[in-house]
Amino acid sequence: MVTSGLIQFDDWADIYASRVETMRTSAVRDLFAAASRSDIISLSGGMPDIARLPLDKVSEVAANAVKKEGVSGLQYGDTTGREQTKAVICRLMEDSDIHIKPEDLIVTTGAQQALDLLGKTFIDVGDVVITEGPTYLGALQAFSAYQPDVHTIEFDDEGMRMDLLEAELKKLGKRTVKFIYTIPTFQNPGGVTMSLERRKRLLELAHEYEVLVIEDDPYGRLRFEGEPEPCLRAMDDDVIYLGTVSKVFAPGLRTGWIIAPHPILQKIKMVKQGTDLCGSALNQVIVEHYFNDTPWKETLANINVKYWERRDAMLAALEEFFPPEARWTHPCGGFFVWVTLPEYVDTVQMLSVALENGVIFVPGDGCYPAGSGKGRNAMRIAFCYEEPEKLREAIRRLSMVIEERMALYRAFINAGAL
Ligand SMILES: Cc1ncc(COP(=O)(O)O)c(C=O)c1O
Repeated sequence: MVTSGLIQFDDWADIYASRVETMRTSAVRDLFAAASRSDIISLSGGMPDIARLPLDKVSEVAANAVKKEGVSGLQYGDTTGREQTKAVICRLMEDSDIHIKPEDLIVTTGAQQALDLLGKTFIDVGDVVITEGPTYLGALQAFSAYQPDVHTIEFDDEGMRMDLLEAELKKLGKRTVKFIYTIPTFQNPGGVTMSLERRKRLLELAHEYEVLVIEDDPYGRLRFEGEPEPCLRAMDDDVIYLGTVSKVFAPGLRTGWIIAPHPILQKIKMVKQGTDLCGSALNQVIVEHYFNDTPWKETLANINVKYWERRDAMLAALEEFFPPEARWTHPCGGFFVWVTLPEYVDTVQMLSVALENGVIFVPGDGCYPAGSGKGRNAMRIAFCYEEPEKLREAIRRLSMVIEERMALYRAFINAGAL
């Protein structure tokens, strides 16, 4: 290895697997380092407000985890998860009208691992998968390791556009798409929710073209306005459903789950054995006790009120400060607003200037497959993490950065340089 000052040359560059070449680091992960600086207002990560959890109760639950369960939480466990954890998850799913038994699911190390396991189970190099565009960048990252050809379908205020999906499926043909990955409720990064009509249409199209549907649902319980739409899995048992405790309890527990038809679960189980043998039993014990022994619904309802105030503060600030050319979504829950700026504003370039001004966000291009060239004039801004005054200040500062870019563009136009 040769090092020269700040540059470290990679002597191993020619031996990495080709899949690594097509992967890119998550902009959000890279930005988390900056997010922890006290002088930065972070609109970047989808981080739940864990400081509002009943921390005394959580400490008690964690401290008692070994005492109550004996050594079982410290031992290797079943690859598919602890029976007691699965029972808790089945109960949680009843609230979403999804009626399952413990054998219908596998506990995973967060929904993120579920995405990776699904990629590993279904995607061969070059396989077509369909996602919303933009979509969750962590899903793109997980799938990219298996080198799919990702086709994206735009959304509007009613979620993924079914006219575009139908046209795409027609073009691609029956049974050629491995799966459609969707976040129908409070989409990440869009914040939008798929209407009931579109949910029905999506399932019809999936049957007609024989395509699997993966429903990722981390935000469904974070609703502060409007009536819930049914989960896709509640409408169709063939849908693969991903859940997680990350946003309703704590992401540090890294506990999620996959519900899928049994033949698919068998394959995922096999794949998971090669990945981690089993997830953390101790974390699962903590999850069980949190959902069994604390008033978690009440806690979540109180935290949701905070998210609601923050969403209102963000939308009001956007209205107050952003230029009339900007457009943004109006989420009724979840964590994110998606902002679209004039074509010529490049949010990747904007990020470093915003950082100098003490604000970070996720540039839109990270929410599209690498090299697609889409989303460069868009950004994801999260309202979940900061207090209302700080959100207002962040939006004010961002608006100044945007205004500067727009003024520069106008000057180029006036000078005849563009
Ligand atoms: C849509 C979506 N899916 C999956 C995840 C990953 O969740 P987990 O913390 O359970 O791994 C996230 C996290 O932000 C997400 O937004």
